[in-house]
Amino acid sequence: MYNLSPHIVIIQYSFIMSVAQKIKNNPKLKKAVHRLIIAKGEAKPRLWVKLFVNRWFHTYGKGSKVRRYTRMDVHPFNKFCLGNHSTIENFCTVNNGVGDVIIGNNTLIGMGNVLIGPVQVGNDVILAQNIVMSGLNHEYKNIDLPIHAQPVLVAPIVIEDECWIGANAVITAGVTVGKHSVIAAGAVVTKDIPPYSVAAGNPARVIKQYNAATDEWLKISAIKSMG
Ligand SMILES: CC(C)(COP(=O)(O)OP(=O)(O)OC[C@H]1O[C@@H](n2cnc3c(N)ncnc32)[C@H](O)[C@@H]1OP(=O)(O)O)[C@@H](O)C(=O)NCCC(=O)NCCS
Repeated sequence: MYNLSPHIVIIQYSFIMSVAQKIKNNPKLKKAVHRLIIAKGEAKPRLWVKLFVNRWFHTYGKGSKVRRYTRMDVHPFNKFCLGNHSTIENFCTVNNGVGDVIIGNNTLIGMGNVLIGPVQVGNDVILAQNIVMSGLNHEYKNIDLPIHAQPVLVAPIVIEDECWIGANAVITAGVTVGKHSVIAAGAVVTKDIPPYSVAAGNPARVIKQYNAATDEWLKISAIKSMG
C-alpha cells in the first residue's frame, strides 16, 4: 500500500470499505468473518489479521512507537489510531474490540496502561503508569444470567488535550476529562472533570482549579471562600 500512487490507494481503500460495509450488513457473513478474525473465547485477533489485515484499517503517525512488550489486541473492524510522535510503552494492553481507540499527537501512554475502547486520548497528554480506562461495562441487572452472558455497555472515555493522568488512576466509561487537567495518582474518576482542574480521590473530586483572574491554581476551598 505504501509505495502506490494516491489514486490507487484511494480506489483500494474505497473497495475495502465497501466490502466491509457489505459484511456488516449481513449477520451470517458477519459472524463467519468475526470467527475468522478472532478465535472462539478470545479477545485478541488471530496472527494473520495482525500481520496482513490491520495495516489497511489502522493509522500509525510519523515517529509514533509501540514498544515491543505491549499487547495490541486491535481489530480491523474498529478504528485504531496513534498520532504523530506518540508512544505506547511496554506492558500496556490496548483493545478496540467494542469501540475505537484514538490517540492524538505527542502523547505518552506510560507503562502498564490498559485502554479498552471506546477511548479517545487527545494531543500532548501524559498517561503515567498502570492506569485503567475502559469504555466498556458489563450489564449485570438480570439475576438469572451470569454477568459474562449479559450484554456489554459502551460509553466513550475522552481525555482532552494536555492532560496528565497520575499512576494507578481508573477512569470509568463515559467520563470526559477536560483540557489541561490533572488526575491525581490513585484517583477513580466516575464523573466528568472540567478543564483546567486537579481531581483526586475515590470517587475523584475536583480539589484545585485554574483561576484566570489571578492566574493561579487555587484550592476549591479558597475559590468557595472567595464567593
Ligand atoms: C495531584 C498531584 C499532581 C499534586 O498536585 P498539587 O497541585 O501539587 O497538589 P498538592 O500537593 O498541593 O495537594 C493538594 C491536596 O491534594 C491532596 N493530594 C495530592 N495528591 C493526592 C492523591 N494522589 N490522592 C489524594 N489526594 C491527593 C494533598 O494531600 C492535598 O490535600 P490537603 O489540601 O488536604 O492538604 C500529585 O499529588 C499526584 O498525584 N501526582 C501524580 C504522580 C504520578 O502519578 N507520577 C507518575 C509519573 S508521570
